[in-house]
This record gives sequence, C-alpha cells and structure tokens, in this order.
Amino acid sequence: MAKICLCLTAKTIKRNLEILNKYRKNADIAELRVDCLDPDERLYIRRFPELAGLPVILTIRRDIDGGYFSGGEGARVKLLANGLAYAKADSRYNYAYVDIEEDFDVPSLEEAARTFGTRIIRSFHDLNGVISDIPSKMKSMQRSGDEIIKVALAAKSTKDVLNVFEASKTVTAQDKIVICMGHYGIYSRILAERFGSFLTYSSALGEVEVAGGPGQMDVRELSEMYRFGKISKKTKVYGIVGYPLKASVSPWFFNTVFGLENTDSVYVPFPADSIKDLLELAQKLEVMGLSITVPYKELVIPFLAKRSAAVQSIGACNTLYRSDDGWIGENTDCTGFSTSLLGFLNKKNLKHIKITVIGAGGVARSVASEIHRLGGKALIINRTVHKARNLAMKYNFRWGGLPQNEGDSQGLEQIYKYNDIIIQTSSVGMEGYEAKDPLEHYTFNGKERVMDLIYTPAVTPFLKRAMAAGCKTINGYDMVIRQACLQYTSFTETEIPDKLLAQVNTFGESTWNKIRSA
Ligand code: ATR
Repeated sequence: MAKICLCLTAKTIKRNLEILNKYRKNADIAELRVDCLDPDERLYIRRFPELAGLPVILTIRRDIDGGYFSGGEGARVKLLANGLAYAKADSRYNYAYVDIEEDFDVPSLEEAARTFGTRIIRSFHDLNGVISDIPSKMKSMQRSGDEIIKVALAAKSTKDVLNVFEASKTVTAQDKIVICMGHYGIYSRILAERFGSFLTYSSALGEVEVAGGPGQMDVRELSEMYRFGKISKKTKVYGIVGYPLKASVSPWFFNTVFGLENTDSVYVPFPADSIKDLLELAQKLEVMGLSITVPYKELVIPFLAKRSAAVQSIGACNTLYRSDDGWIGENTDCTGFSTSLLGFLNKKNLKHIKITVIGAGGVARSVASEIHRLGGKALIINRTVHKARNLAMKYNFRWGGLPQNEGDSQGLEQIYKYNDIIIQTSSVGMEGYEAKDPLEHYTFNGKERVMDLIYTPAVTPFLKRAMAAGCKTINGYDMVIRQACLQYTSFTETEIPDKLLAQVNTFGESTWNKIRSA
C-alpha cells in the first residue's frame, strides 16, 4: 500500500518536530527538507531521525529542481555526508531514505548509504512540463534494484497526466514514485496506489510558508478526508470533472459519506482541460462514476454510450456511471434544483410565478426545464444572447442580454416584470472566477426571492446585494447536496440512509467552509 510522506519545510529543526508531532498520526514517513532550513540549523540534521521517531527521508533539493538550496554541489555533498555519517547499528537512528537526483554522481556517498541500510530515492524533476519520452527516462534511471525511482513532472494538461500514468506502468520490477505536480496532477497524489507509487508527498499546509512541491495536498485532508491509508487496488474510485475546479463541496460530501458508512470507495477531484482525455484516463483508472461540472455538462454528451430521458431532453449531463457498454449519463441537477427551490419557497409548484434566470449554460438548462415542468414563467438573460434565446424558445419563455448599464431600460424593464424570483446560474462570482455581480445595474426592491446556485463563496457579490436590500436568499449549497444524494444513488444503486445524511449535515455548510479554508 502507498504511504503518506509528510514534507517538513520549516526553517528550524524544532519547528519541524512540532509539526511532525501534531500530524504524526497522519503520516507514515517524514521528509526533512534540509534546503528549507536556516543555514545554522543545517548543522544539526544528523540527529533528526532519532528525534523524529519514524522513517525519515533526507533531501536537499536544489533550486533548479524547485527547492531552495543554491549553495553549490560541493556544499550539498558535504551536507548530505553529514546527514548520513556516523551510522548507528540501530537503523532507527539513521535516515531511512536519501533523495539524490539522477545526475548526482558521488559513488562513495551512495555506497555509504547502502552499507547502513539507507535506501536511495533516485529522483528526476521537471518543473517546466512533462518530457516526451517518460518510459525511456524511467528505464535509464534504473540502477540497482534496491533503489526507488522518483519522477515528478509538472503536468500542464490532462494529456500529460495520462502520459505519466501510462509510463508508470512500464516500470514494474522496482519501487517507484510517480507524481504529476501542479493543479492537474492532484489525483495522481490521492490515487498514488493506482499510479503505482511507493509513497505520496504531502504538507501541513496550515503550518508552513511553503509546501514541499507544487500541488501538494494537506496531510490531514489526505489521510482523514480521503482516507488515503485505505485506498487499495480494489477501492472503488469516483470523482468530479471540471475546470478550473478550484472549490467543490462534492469531494468533502462523498468522502464523508463513504467514511461514515465505512465503504471501500474514494471520491477525487479531476481538474481537466479536455473531457475526452479525462474520460480516457478515467477508463484506464477504472473510475466507477463521475460528477460533471462547469464547463463540461454539455460537452460530455457525445461521449455517452447511453443517456437518460432527462439528459436527452435537457441537453445537459452532470452524472456519469459505468456500464459494460460505456458511460451512462444522468442529470441530477433538475430534481436537486427544483426540490431546493420549492423547499425555499415552501410551495408545491411555480404556477403564476415570474422568474428571471441569469445564465444559459449547462445548469440553466436544468433550471429552465424544471421551471417549465412546475408551471412557472421565465425570462432568461445571458451574456451570449443567442444562447438565452435558444433555451427560452424551447419552453416559450422570454429572453434577453445581461443589462450593460443603468440606462439599459429595455433590458431592465423586462427583469422588473419577472422578478418574483431571480435565479443566478452563471459562473460569475464563483471562486476561481471574477468576483463580479452579473446583475449590477438592477435595483432590488427587497421582495424578490433570490437564489444563487454558487456556494463557493457562500455569499457572492450578487447575493450580498440582494441580502442588503432585504430579499430572502438561498445559495447553491442545499441544491448541490440534494443533487449529490441523487448522484450517490446513480453510483451505488442505493439511497443514502436519512440517519447518515443527518450525520453528514451536522458538519453543515459553515463547517465545510471552515474545513476548506483551514
Ligand atoms: P454551468 O454548467 O454551470 O451552467 P456553463 O455551461 O459553462 O456552466 O455556463 C456558464 C454560464 O455562465 C453561461 O451562461 C455563461 O455565459 P455565456 O453563455 O455567455 O458564456 C456564464 N458566464 C460565464 N462567465 C461569464 C462572465 N464573465 N460574464 C457573464 N456571464 C458569464
């Protein structure tokens, strides 16, 4: 099973030990990043394994490899020798591993390490991208069988991650560590076991100024939320696909449910720049089910082997699950949205209610379809007017553009006529996007019911203004949990027991936000 390594990047030995003691139960191995230590502190690295009380990797990362050591190779060799010197018969007093780069060539030091049972991690870093022939690189790094080969590459696309995954399968006879650095590679860290990695690196993100590497995850999140230590080859993998996918409640929700019911499943974020490449990778990783979010709810449809009636009629899909023939597409946004809206209004339908819908993307399609089904009348406004028109015409609704200024009387007048409820479905105001109000030129009268389907941040600039005007408001958290429950049923063919959902809900929105920002 892959292990969790906690990278220690504080400036002093004392601080590193404090961090280690706080997160000890979350880690199997620690890495002392000597390059992050103050120069004076580097004199005391020899005793660290003894003080740490768990296996430690000795690493002095050069600046060209993304580290902080700029003192020249002679000084680095001397420091490495200091760390490995005076080896004790009891191996707990020695470094368990030493990380040396593939171009490092000091045989005497390597020999000394081997003699005293310190395993060599032979590493290669590329901070600029993913080299073209990874399998050849990995093969060329294979020296003696007791070494661990490590390749850490900056993935700039989903295709990069796919290539690294394929390459990792070419080395089977030797322990290896295969990491895609950066945002695209996050799941290569969580699914280290699937990528064939001996360990995954993490940091105590709330404690240190610098993470051990770009895209490293928080050690506690990895071990407690993702239950990393339980992920095996048999674990069922689910996840969410989107871009930029900076913040989503779904990994927290599903992993909390899986943890509470103690099922052998994990749910991971799959940030992707290409839905096609991601689905190819998901197939290879044997992913069982996917949530689909911005901007792929429509783009995913051509890749489906089968689509539900809702996906067919709405033209948007937010849930994929596996069958022998390929992916089956479902839409849980519709029911998630309408049950949330009706609960908010305390109504059974939308008869005689006039609604403005902002946005005409994937989620707006589900919103429009449900408003129509429930007997409401709507005006759809969107930055790209023809998309609003296409959607509105389907249901005999009105359409328009987003008012561009206060003088846009025609546009604003329409909205004043359709303002019993205003539903914001666009990505404007979402974390990762511009913090803007898509309806800034509209003045609330305080009687509108306002729903913003965004939940990160919990209060968008649009919702804040509505609240200040006295409107009753709701964000997208309630809807996202409702649609996630329906996704769970698509994924597992069972419903989340009410008792378990109540347990999840005790964590609540604010707690989740706290966890996320901690
Ligand atoms: P989703 O599945 O969440 O609906 P989507 O299909 O990508 O995501 O749709 C995003 C919506 O946000 C669209 O209505 C989009 O407007 P366009 O159709 O004009 O692209 C809207 N949107 C995104 N960025 C926007 C911006 N900066 N200003 C206004 N609208 C924006």
